[in-house]
Amino acid sequence: MEIRSLKFDGEVLHILDQRKLPFEFINVPCKTEKDVWEAINKMMIRGAPAIGVAAAYGMYLGIKNFTGTSGNLLKRLKEVKEYLDTARPTAVNLKWATERILKLAEKFKDLPSEELKQTILLEAIAMEKEDAERNFKIGEFGSALFKDGDTIMTICNTGALATVAYGTAFSVIRRSFEKYKDIKAIALETRPYLQGARLTALELKEAGIPFHLITDNMSGFIMSKGLVSGIVVGADRIASNGDTANKIGTYTLAVLAMHHKIPFYVAAPISTIDPHIESGAEIPIEERNPDEVTHCGGKRIAPEGIKVYNPAFDVTPNGLIDAIITDKGVIRKPFKESIKDILK
Ligand code: MRU
Repeated sequence: MEIRSLKFDGEVLHILDQRKLPFEFINVPCKTEKDVWEAINKMMIRGAPAIGVAAAYGMYLGIKNFTGTSGNLLKRLKEVKEYLDTARPTAVNLKWATERILKLAEKFKDLPSEELKQTILLEAIAMEKEDAERNFKIGEFGSALFKDGDTIMTICNTGALATVAYGTAFSVIRRSFEKYKDIKAIALETRPYLQGARLTALELKEAGIPFHLITDNMSGFIMSKGLVSGIVVGADRIASNGDTANKIGTYTLAVLAMHHKIPFYVAAPISTIDPHIESGAEIPIEERNPDEVTHCGGKRIAPEGIKVYNPAFDVTPNGLIDAIITDKGVIRKPFKESIKDILK
């Protein structure tokens, strides 16, 4: 079964509703930028690179039926960008994608509006294709860090569902499995939203990669038993100094990895690097509905009337990261310099 997070048919963006996985495969048709905003905000589609590509198509859908001059189309496109950028705050790929479309439209603002629309659409299509190519390269570069017999631990979902194809951290696991054969994975369930149990377990199973699913709080014990060769995680935003925001629980894993002397790698396309921020302290962290913590599988598990924290992401300081696997190669400390070089 081919797992695809999104598919554009020329008119409509079909988004696989990941909230229903692994039990139901339902595509939601998005015909307007509002539909795309809803799909991102309600987490029908999630994962930084997938959000970025969906937003690029959202930009096109926002001006698709616009009639008027190219100047007015550009104004409209800016409004669409501002609107889409509010769908979720942490993954920088969202703003990166809408910015790229807007910049391109500004460059071609003298084209007749119908041609400008086509130019925007072609850019969104190119971004979709690029995402798959970048992720393939991440797998290629990242797999060089592993060897036959290794067991790779990961958190959240970073596979085809979180991207256009292959995934990021997942691409490293998949490519290592293809190259070395004896590769195993350990997937953390990723409380509270359970992307690991619902999505990564599905993708690992589909790919035929041997794996164990564990709850997040088992990770330290499993590491202490010598069962983990390396850890690879995705990223939602990487600051100029290498500090990395990723799914809540990633920081805990990195601390444990350092204690157990297990290599800790972040895998992400360069579109996840935010050159405008100096450190992770500037990354906005999404705070989600308390129900995700007080409930499990739709059933309340905590008493009524209590206070809850529910940050969806945490920040791993650069000092805990051994290397960042990008589509341009593997970079190491000092990240301030290596990130600057890779973005040149
Ligand atoms: O809240 P989510 O499911 O969008 O969070 C996803 C993650 O944290 C991923 O690790 C990250 O976006 C990288 S996906 C290739």
